[in-house]
Amino acid sequence: MVSFTEILSSNALITTSTTPLRVAVFVGGTSGIGKLTIRALVATGTPIKIYLLGRKPSQSRTLPFIKELHTLNPKAEIIFIEAEVSLLADVKRVCSLISSLESKIGLLFLSAGFAPWGGQRKETAEGHEVAQALEYYSRMLFILRLLPFLDSGRVVSVLGGGMETTYFLDMEDWELKKEGNFTIWRARPQYIGMNTIMLDRLAKENPNVTFIHSLPGAVDTGNVRRGWDGKSILGWAFIRFIEGVNWLVAFSDEESGQRHLFQSTSAAFGGRGVPWSGEAGRATAGGLFLVSNKCDCTPNTKVVDQLRDKGQEKLWGHTMEILGPYL
Ligand SMILES: NC(=O)c1ccc[n+]([C@@H]2O[C@H](COP(=O)([O-])OP(=O)(O)OC[C@H]3O[C@@H](n4cnc5c(N)ncnc54)[C@H](OP(=O)(O)O)[C@@H]3O)[C@@H](O)[C@H]2O)c1
Repeated sequence: MVSFTEILSSNALITTSTTPLRVAVFVGGTSGIGKLTIRALVATGTPIKIYLLGRKPSQSRTLPFIKELHTLNPKAEIIFIEAEVSLLADVKRVCSLISSLESKIGLLFLSAGFAPWGGQRKETAEGHEVAQALEYYSRMLFILRLLPFLDSGRVVSVLGGGMETTYFLDMEDWELKKEGNFTIWRARPQYIGMNTIMLDRLAKENPNVTFIHSLPGAVDTGNVRRGWDGKSILGWAFIRFIEGVNWLVAFSDEESGQRHLFQSTSAAFGGRGVPWSGEAGRATAGGLFLVSNKCDCTPNTKVVDQLRDKGQEKLWGHTMEILGPYL
């Protein structure tokens, strides 16, 4: 475990000379862990430009946050871009926009999503289950489109790194569209597994980029309520249970933000970034860092090796089929 004191010490070293991070893109930074990480990053006082992507209804409540950030660090520039990131066509549009404005991106931080507790399948206008669109397809499209700008940079996908399992992962039905296949018990591990399988491949093919799949642990962001359909009583009971557990064990907002800032900047993950004298994080065979809520790394070798062998080619093919028109 990396203690909170060690995290704070590392983050205190973030200066213009220790981190090359000048431009960051946050998808999911309008609330929760993304927002907490932005606040921690801006508070370092370094000159940073942040593209903060969010949907239209979130814009007005995000503006006071942006004002707060500019006061916290007058050298920071925060640019809100309106985007419906569950839609691949809109992801393509905003990626083209950012690509026309920047030549180098140091950090792509992906945290949009929720757990679909209701168990009822809801789809985007493009036909993808909404949580899967946010937590997998949209995230992979952001990465693939922005990769040319991420040289020596970092990608952090916040979902469930290290929680991969070979059970509950359906490689014959990636989208869980078959009758009876879509349940919360299948969706969560499916999307976590898909993230890891794909990121492991991208890490192998792009050793100049640091890839992290982060497990945030419990953080009381309200995320647990987002996916509830307002009907399922079982879902409601489960949400109350999780909220009770959260109340007991959740990280404070401050600690969550600092832990994700550490993951976004420290050389603990692959050697690039803010100098780190502690134990170096161990990556998967592909070079992906699966980072726990305590900021430890697990290669989860037994499971990830199986997923890679059995599913990587297949998932790549499936993903290209879906993302192809937007690449
Ligand atoms: N918090 C936890 O304890 C926890 C634990 C394990 C895993 N996770 C996972 O980690 C990720 C980040 O969690 P978090 O707590 O930071 O989440 P959050 O605060 O609830 O939401 C993160 C972002 O997702 C966006 N979002 C949600 N539904 C959307 C939709 N239908 N269309 C477009 N954007 C949408 C939100 O946008 P708006 O601001 O516009 O609503 C927000 O920017 C999620 O995938 C979550 O499931 C969280």
